[in-house]
Amino acid sequence: MNEHVTVTVTPTLPDAQTVTDVRHWTDRLFSFRVTRPASLRFRSGEFVMIGLMGDPDPKTGRQKPLLRAYSIASPAWDDELEFYSIKVQDGPLTSRLQHIKAGDQIILRPKPVGTLVHDALLPGKRLWFFATGTGIAPFASLIREPQTYEDYEDVILTHTCRDVAELEYGRLLVEEIKSDEMMRELTEGGVDKLRYYPTTTREHSARMGRVTDKLRSGEIFADLGVPPMSRETDRAMVCGSMGLNIDMKEILEGFGLREGANSEPAEYVVEKAFVG
Ligand code: A2P
Repeated sequence: MNEHVTVTVTPTLPDAQTVTDVRHWTDRLFSFRVTRPASLRFRSGEFVMIGLMGDPDPKTGRQKPLLRAYSIASPAWDDELEFYSIKVQDGPLTSRLQHIKAGDQIILRPKPVGTLVHDALLPGKRLWFFATGTGIAPFASLIREPQTYEDYEDVILTHTCRDVAELEYGRLLVEEIKSDEMMRELTEGGVDKLRYYPTTTREHSARMGRVTDKLRSGEIFADLGVPPMSRETDRAMVCGSMGLNIDMKEILEGFGLREGANSEPAEYVVEKAFVG
């Protein structure tokens, strides 16, 4: 008997995690949830490297993982991990990642790092989160972190996007957090301290303009009924485009805040590994 048997070997991905849910917000934005490795411990605000297997090398046939830094958008206490991503049509990773579905596998290296953590800030009264675009991801984690409300009297999340649809992920999250019983219990009602300040720059909305311009003009302080930022009371975390990082550094230092790090906490931190 000459039986021909074909065996298909599905290579086991290193550090594979299973996608549990995917949501498309706009044609440029999507979020997804994956299983959490049992060994993964992280601080809300940190990022990990995630990705997919790349195409086989034409010479060797070998496949290498294609990985990018992604902030974990879910809080440290969550059973699953959530990510919020841009879709770049010709981007090596996101052109493919945007097609993932529940049940698919992605690669996740369980080594969390990052500067947007409470440990990198000195104690203060008011905590500001400044995000543009998908830069809201680490703050989606931190606004669900009980420590945020234990450590501060006032928490302000600002989010600047091109249009209204791009604000939806953050808007809905804030709405859900404020009405969620479990979140209220976890934070002992701390979520009431959270204030949300969304702006759009291209589509008309209730509040238009870059947050940076509103900080320079003082409009944001008048809108929120708070005094201008100061080293004594205010702490800030920044995540977004390179332009935002540069402008915010100048603005925050103008208010007297100094940049902190895990090893040397101060008054503000910027996530430099973020790719928008
Ligand atoms: P703008 O429309 O004026 O460029 P993107 O989608 O390109 O990542 O941008 C997300 C949002 O970040 C947009 O609303 C954009 O405004 C805004 N933005 C870009 N650069 C800066 C900056 N340096 N300071 C503040 N906001 C910025």
